[in-house]
Formats: sequence, structure tokens, C-alpha cells
Amino acid sequence: YNKVIAVQDIPAFRSRSEEFFPLEWYKRMLHDHPVYYHEATDTWNVFRYEDVKQVLSNHQLFSSEGERSAIAVGAKNKEGGIPDKINLTLKDPPESTRRRSLISAAFTPRALDNWEPRIRQIANKLVEDMKPDGPIDLVQTLSAPLPSMVMADLFGVPTDDSVLFKNWVDILFQPLEKGSEQETELRKMSAAKQYYEYLYPIVVRKRTDPADDIISDLLKVDIEGERFSDDEVVRTTMLLLGAGVETTSHMMASLFYSLLHDDPQLFGQMREDPGLVPQTVEEMLRYRFHISKRDRTVKQDTDALGVEMKKGDVVIAWMSAGNMDEQMFANPFTLDIHRGNSKKHLTFGNGPHFCLGGPLARLELNIALTAFLQRFSRIEPVAFDLEKSLVMSAPGQSLTRLPMRAVQ
Ligand code: HEM
Repeated sequence: YNKVIAVQDIPAFRSRSEEFFPLEWYKRMLHDHPVYYHEATDTWNVFRYEDVKQVLSNHQLFSSEGERSAIAVGAKNKEGGIPDKINLTLKDPPESTRRRSLISAAFTPRALDNWEPRIRQIANKLVEDMKPDGPIDLVQTLSAPLPSMVMADLFGVPTDDSVLFKNWVDILFQPLEKGSEQETELRKMSAAKQYYEYLYPIVVRKRTDPADDIISDLLKVDIEGERFSDDEVVRTTMLLLGAGVETTSHMMASLFYSLLHDDPQLFGQMREDPGLVPQTVEEMLRYRFHISKRDRTVKQDTDALGVEMKKGDVVIAWMSAGNMDEQMFANPFTLDIHRGNSKKHLTFGNGPHFCLGGPLARLELNIALTAFLQRFSRIEPVAFDLEKSLVMSAPGQSLTRLPMRAVQ
């Protein structure tokens, strides 16, 4: 991209906590400005469920290719770039479909079945290590380490090294904030270089000595003669880390925050009926994943969304606002695990770029929550300063700590 759009300027929130859960803003935009032109960033912003869905999925009108984007991916040095062959996110079908099939070769249902016991083992270990009764920090003990440990394990590198991964990902996917772009970019390039130098020899080794892991699967990919080089495998894993670690950590922390502060009865209900876990996860994805948004570039002049948009205009689709549209979800501003259509949420996107890791993210969230419910009978909030416990990350304001008491 030539230019990264500072989307955080659009809502102009007064505090981090407001941005963490901007229901009032979504309500206002859905009601008063469902298709909104923001002058300072020169972007269209859409909020309604059907509009968001159309922008994400109608690639004839709304393209993933363009000069400007809200998402800063990777770093600007050679180690931090995503190679063309796999950069599916920034291409339209049919090109993106071909690239997607290369990566999805490592994301089959068979793979998911293999991964389940490994993820369970990691989750159980983390939950067993938690001190019962005293105050614990859910972020430090579970939501931050789990997704990077899972990725390390699935990549086939030592799980202990996931701390390195987590650190690199945190840096690589930091949003560029006005005033400190250059500093952030330098830090990103250094993280990309360290990551690359760590992983490259491992990939070379797996070429001759494959195992049951994603790296070995990527090395085996052969679709009509198209294969990955060692270099491309290293950088594909970087793409997967970036797409899968922060998002899942962020969601896991928000889920526990919600159990403590939105609906304190829900924990006890799931203890009594563990069958409620999957629908709780699904409703949390709808209700508590903030802020999720994607941009597209208008491919040809259109009034498909009720206003005149010109070729080249940038449109931002606010999925978490679409998740709050009452045309789609009854009483959308209420957390209700029994609503029946939570799964229609747009948190994983829609259409040709629908999240490849959705099934993995769901699995991690379900397993982590189940492991936690098996060990603890009750959770209680511990007073903390929300405003001081949030930090801007790629998925939006994310919790850096979440203190609670977990009673055995
Ligand atoms: C794409 C969200 C977890 C891998 C996407 C997109 C969204 C998303 C919204 C669509 C992008 C677009 O339309 O432009 C999430 C959320 C997650 C999550 C909310 C967790 C709660 C994961 C995980 C992985 C992953 C665990 C894998 C390790 C990907 C990839 C793409 C993608 C590779 C690109 C697909 C494409 O462009 O065709 N994700 N994701 N995601 N996600 Fe996820």
C-alpha cells in the first residue's frame, strides 16, 4: 500500500474504554448515518448488516486491491513483506481464490481434528497453573499466551518460544498512529528480521525432516505444480501469526470480561450445562468483538448503497456495527446466548475472503472456556481501572490485564 488510513480518527472517541465497547456510537451511526462520508480520511463508512455484507462480498463492485488501506500488514523490509504468491487478502477472485487454496491446504478439517487434543493440552496446562482463590490476571495467564502457544505448536516449533512469537506479533501488527509512524516502522522491521532469522533454519530442516505440523504441510503443498519455496513458507507463517494470534487473544480476553461484567449469571449456567459453551462463544463473537472493520476500493461508479460512489473511493465496512443491526438481530444491544442466529455475525467477514482461521479460532475459544469451567466453580470481578488497562492493537482497544478471582 502507498498509504495507510488512520481509521481510528473516524469515530473520535473520548477515551479508550469508550472505544473498547462503542455501542452508543454504533447505535447513532446505524440510526442517523448508515452510509457516512468522513472528510478527513476521505472514506465512506457503512454500518448496516446488509451493506457491510455487500461491501465485503461483492467483489465486482468492491475490490480488495487498492492504493489505500486501513490495515498495515507486516513491515517494509524484505523479511517483513508478504510474498505476492500468498498475499490473498489484497487480491480479488479468481486470483485470491487460487492463492487461498494454497494456504487452505494446511487448514483442512482433518488437520483441525488432529489439533484439537493438542490445543486441549495447552489450555489445560495454562488453567492448571492458575492460582485458585487469589486474584489472577486472565490476560497474562490465559488469553495472551494461549493463541501464540497454539500457533507455535501447530507450526511445529518449541512451545516455549511462543513468547518470542507473541512479542514479534505485537510489534508487527501495531497500528500506525499519527506522529510515531517512523518509529513504529523501524521497530516492525527489526521484529520481522528477528522472526525471519528464527524461523528460516527451522523451515529448511523440516524440508528434509517433515513432521505433523503446518510448516511441513505448507512445504508439501503442490497445486497443479505450484509450490512454496522455503522463503515463502516462512513468510506465510508470518501472515498466519498476524491474522490469528492477536485477534484470538483479544476475543478471549473480551469474552471473560463480558462474563464478569455483562452477564454474571452466565458462568454458573455454563457450569451446569457445558452444552451452552459453543453458543456463548458465538454470541460473544457477535457482541464483544470490537472493533472489527475492513476496507474495499470501489471498482466502478455505483449507487448500490444508495449514494453515488466513484471508482477509486475507499469504503470501510464496520462489521461490529453490522452485528448490532436490529434488522438482523432482535434486541442487538443485549447479550443473549439463546437468540438462535448469533452465528450470522460478520466478525469473520463474508464472501471470498471469509476468515480461513474461523474454525481454529472457535476451537481455541471453546476449549479454553471449557478447560476453565472444569477447574473453577465461580468467578468474581476484582476492581480495576479499565481505562489504564487498554492498549491500541490491530483489532482495536485490547485488554492488557483482566484481574479476577477464580474460586475452585
Ligand atoms: C481473514 C477475522 C482468527 C487467518 C479474516 C477476515 C476477518 C477475520 C474479518 C476477513 C478479511 C477480509 O474480508 O478482508 C478474524 C477473527 C479472528 C480470526 C475475528 C479471531 C477471533 C484467525 C485465525 C487464523 C486466521 C486463528 C489462522 C491462523 C485468516 C486468514 C485470512 C483471514 C489467512 C485471509 C483470508 C482471505 O483474505 O482470503 N479474519 N480472524 N484468522 N483470517 Fe481471520
